[in-house]
Amino acid sequence: MTKRGAFIVIEGLDRSGKSTQAATLLKRLQDAQSPAKLINFPDRTTAIGKMIDSYLRSESELDDRAVHLLFSANRWELAKSIEETLQSGETIICDRYAFSGIAFSASKIRPGTNSYPLLDYSWCRAPDVGLPAPDMTIFLDVTQEVARARGGYGEERYEKEGVQRRVRDVFERVAEEVEGSGGRWVLVNADESEEEVQKVVWDTVKEIIGGIEGPIEKLWD
Ligand code: TMP
Ligand code: MG
Repeated sequence: MTKRGAFIVIEGLDRSGKSTQAATLLKRLQDAQSPAKLINFPDRTTAIGKMIDSYLRSESELDDRAVHLLFSANRWELAKSIEETLQSGETIICDRYAFSGIAFSASKIRPGTNSYPLLDYSWCRAPDVGLPAPDMTIFLDVTQEVARARGGYGEERYEKEGVQRRVRDVFERVAEEVEGSGGRWVLVNADESEEEVQKVVWDTVKEIIGGIEGPIEKLWD
């Protein structure tokens, strides 16, 4: 039976080193002659992605539920191409996925208060049910202190300490639910040096880069 490509998601807070690690992982796979491609969410190049981009850069305002659904729609518009790529035998490394979708939306606070959620956790999860499920999610866990030492956050909407702290809490619940539903969630200490994290990531994915037998699972099914 021919094997399909592995679907590897890299998640984490802003400043956790996700994009750097994803790019390095891609290069290592290519060096090992293992066909692979890198994608990321939000994919800001599509029509939906452009609306998300404008929202993140605070150039437009959108209702919190509306933008949550746009993030999900941005994944659905690429779902078919993800499946086709995996079936063709190519591995996908995906920088953020539905887990960021839940974590960032379900950690929003009610305006003028400190209490959350504004949006209920299961409401946030619902639109992503049925998407292609990752074979493995690598969560790069960075502490606030190290993120700060890396030069702090950028200018985008969610790049603030309070937001990141709440997002981290919701990610813990996401991790439990992924594991509870039979998925693989690998927590990596992203406070370590870039090289150290690279080594751990490579050791973790090595076993699945030869391809996967069996169908692509569906998320939260
Ligand atoms: P990026 O910095 O990886 O481009 O992601 C942009 C921001 O969008 C980041 O703060 C996380 C947030 N986000 C969501 O709120 N929902 C989602 O579904 C995704 C994929 C990202
Ligand atoms: Mg960012």
